[in-house]
Amino acid sequence: MIKRPRRNRINAKIRDLVHETSIDRSDLVYPMFVTEGETEEIPSMPGVKRYSLNDLPDAVDEVVSAGVSAVLLFGIPAHKDECGSGAYDDNGIVQRAIRLIKKLYPDLIVIADICLCEYTSHGHCGVIDGDCVSNEKTLPLLAKAAVSCAKAGADIIAPSDMMDGRVGAIRAALDSDGFLNTIIMAYSVKYSSAFYGPFRDAADSAPAFGDRKTYQMDFRNAREAVLETELDIEEGADIIMVKPGIAYLDIVKTMREKFNQPLAVYQVSGEYSMIKAAAQNGWLDEKSVVMESVTAMKRAGAKIVITYYAKEIARWLEG
Ligand code: PBG
Repeated sequence: MIKRPRRNRINAKIRDLVHETSIDRSDLVYPMFVTEGETEEIPSMPGVKRYSLNDLPDAVDEVVSAGVSAVLLFGIPAHKDECGSGAYDDNGIVQRAIRLIKKLYPDLIVIADICLCEYTSHGHCGVIDGDCVSNEKTLPLLAKAAVSCAKAGADIIAPSDMMDGRVGAIRAALDSDGFLNTIIMAYSVKYSSAFYGPFRDAADSAPAFGDRKTYQMDFRNAREAVLETELDIEEGADIIMVKPGIAYLDIVKTMREKFNQPLAVYQVSGEYSMIKAAAQNGWLDEKSVVMESVTAMKRAGAKIVITYYAKEIARWLEG
């Protein structure tokens, strides 16, 4: 035999020499929940918490010490209403969290998730008009939320609502308020996915009626992902995202081939909880499965990996 692929796998040093894909600590984003209430465990996401503002500094300190350089913030307000006003209140929970983090860690990259679902009484990502979520009524509120988070000090605005035209509306609002350098990381390809189940417990944001299928994408579609991303880029998206992760690596690969913007992938709550539950039962080796999953996301073409395992991954990479 002349060709023996096993030669290049003969030992760990050789395998390291020829390996094609790696993940770096600078790729990682850690999602965090901040609540107006007390710090609480999230039962369906062991190891992930909702933090009160009092406990947030210690929690962020842990992220920074692990070597993670970016956090993605979700707010859980004390009161929800029909039009999600907590999302664009300059004194809202996320705005206060951003100011606090930026005061303590000015260099930590703070990404604000922009959506109404955590703030609306009905749990939908926009304003309800009749029996549907109104695109037109929602856009100005998302734009207000984005400006309010930028004012609080967010480096990156990440709209996750899936309304049409929201990137354009947010860019225009940011620019007219002078936030010319605030980056938009668009959840360009966000599927309507059952993998978000544990997040909805965490953010208390399950829709009270119906589902999100009129705005989030149908998982049977791939070409539609290209269309959504083209629109976001035309409207000014600086970074594009695919969500969820592991079941959508074909889409990640297509995005990498078609577009030049930095590409993020979100390993969502359900992906985290599945691995965690299996690990807690002794059915899977947690570290190996996590590293294999996130490396697969990188191999498919992602640069940025958003994951509830960010702190662990950063520590494993160091050790
Ligand atoms: C808000 C939002 C969701 C997630 C991120 N932003 C939930 C949803 O769309 O229902 C999901 C994240 C996760 O599952 O980890 N729209």
